[in-house]
Amino acid sequence: MEQHCCPWWMNYLIGSPLRLVLQPPRKLFGQLVKPGMTVLDAGCGMGIFTMSLAAMAGPDGHVFAVDLVRKNLKILERKARRKGLEQRITTMACDMGKLPLDFRFDFALAANSVHEVPENQRFFRRLTELLNPGAKFLLLEPPLHLSEEEFQRELELAAEAGLGLIERSKERSSFKALLQKLN
Ligand SMILES: C[S@@+](CC[C@H](N)C(=O)[O-])C[C@H]1O[C@@H](n2cnc3c(N)ncnc32)[C@H](O)[C@@H]1O
Repeated sequence: MEQHCCPWWMNYLIGSPLRLVLQPPRKLFGQLVKPGMTVLDAGCGMGIFTMSLAAMAGPDGHVFAVDLVRKNLKILERKARRKGLEQRITTMACDMGKLPLDFRFDFALAANSVHEVPENQRFFRRLTELLNPGAKFLLLEPPLHLSEEEFQRELELAAEAGLGLIERSKERSSFKALLQKLN
């Protein structure tokens, strides 16, 4: 698949408040993230969804926000401090295809990032290892950057890695699939 790694400054555009109107976090994953959960935000950018994940996970939960670009994470950290959420968020500058983490997650989000990972099969495999049994994974991808066939291929690779499809939909701004680690 052709790769479309967006320049870091593009996150300023896609991180605008309008995004949260078009893709309200409560609607996307409000039913999936419960207080006390450990959550992964893979390819978090400047943290447009990280803040909501941390708010939903509550003081006993924790969010790991992973991105290749350190500059994005610095901006995310600043936002977290402003919102008083910094204790609930750990940032990591690393390749989400490798995810050198020791944690296990109850929920994972990859929003508009998987198509930018050169070997996304490796990401799905590693994610499966890091998810607790039965944990859910929400995959969002932008129709502007990949075709229906390419999204379908991602779902096949996820299934091969042990992530079963619960439901999928296509909204104007997003391909969306909810998956679950098969026990
Ligand atoms: C289009 S942005 C999406 C950011 C955010 N999740 C959102 O929905 O607004 C894609 C992000 O994935 C990150 N990314 C791309 N390839 C990556 C990789 N191999 N490992 C970690 N992050 C990666 C980019 O740095 C960028 O911040």
